[in-house]
Amino acid sequence: MYPIISTEELVPRVRVYRIQAPRVARKAAAGQFVILRVNEKGERIPLTIADWDTTEGTVSVVFMEVGTTTTRLARLGVGDALADFVGPLGNPTEIENFGTVCLMAGGFATATIMPIARAMKAAGNRVITVVGARNKDLLFWQDRLSAVSDELIITTDDGSAGRKGVVTEPIKEKLERGETIDRVIAVGPSIMMKFSALTTRPFGVKTIVSMNPIMIDGTGMCGCCRVSVDGQTRFACVDGPEFDGHAIDWDSFMARQRTYIEEEKRSLEVCRCPEAGA
Ligand SMILES: Cc1cc2nc3c(=O)[nH]c(=O)nc-3n(C[C@H](O)[C@H](O)[C@H](O)COP(=O)(O)OP(=O)(O)OC[C@H]3O[C@@H](n4cnc5c(N)ncnc54)[C@H](O)[C@@H]3O)c2cc1C
Ligand code: FES
Repeated sequence: MYPIISTEELVPRVRVYRIQAPRVARKAAAGQFVILRVNEKGERIPLTIADWDTTEGTVSVVFMEVGTTTTRLARLGVGDALADFVGPLGNPTEIENFGTVCLMAGGFATATIMPIARAMKAAGNRVITVVGARNKDLLFWQDRLSAVSDELIITTDDGSAGRKGVVTEPIKEKLERGETIDRVIAVGPSIMMKFSALTTRPFGVKTIVSMNPIMIDGTGMCGCCRVSVDGQTRFACVDGPEFDGHAIDWDSFMARQRTYIEEEKRSLEVCRCPEAGA
């Protein structure tokens, strides 16, 4: 069992949990994820490693409450324990001194980008971080991000913080002005990553995206997490989760993400119904 050491609600429906998992903490690297089960009957869900501490043997995950399992996870507290916490899984982010790196994050992915920003900064890069949210109340960890970024740009859909607009706009302007950006890493909802890749493609800037397909086993055996990259089938769990955003077949990916929407809705209705004992 994997005890929950601390919990904090960062913004409504987004929480950070610190989990006692020394073996995962020892090997964790930026860009990797874990697959957890809330209890023995629970489904497996992947969450990115947002932080880790090898001395205390803990790993932090930040999750957004969207469906059955994340709702069940949100009902737990300090003293509860997870049945499984497997990781670190996936390939770490490629970290080297590229020059200027632009990191783009949408929604809960602010947490995902944090270890990447820290590692890129430590490798000597000039780090530009762009974080987008619907409004100011959904922003978190700005202080942590600005500590590891040379420039932190906030965008909100309604203009309540930072500049009004979407995350792709600041980078498009920089590229149009002729500023050098050597690499972009975009993490967030599929639509945001797709448009990040479309924005940088005409400028030939390599753009890495962290794919978030539905996963089951996390070992490359079930085939659930397949992604078409350059016309070839790749598995996000073992070949990814990061891929070249310019090579992804975004339309087929986004269609696959919608496969179980009706089942997910029904499952959530049962989960939220107290008589169901969920
Ligand atoms: C490698 C990887 C890392 C991830 N890291 C994080 C993270 O750090 N924090 C976090 O909050 N979530 C993360 N996710 C997404 C997370 O796994 C899903 O939100 C979770 O599985 C939903 O489970 P559920 O039963 O609560 O909701 P479900 O009932 O399964 O789904 C509810 C809604 O969320 C959508 N959804 C389900 N799975 C995904 C997914 N993989 N990506 C996008 N939308 C999805 C569904 O289409 C549906 O609309 C990650 C996914 C992957 C593959
Ligand atoms: S989750 Fe099964 S192959 Fe990737």
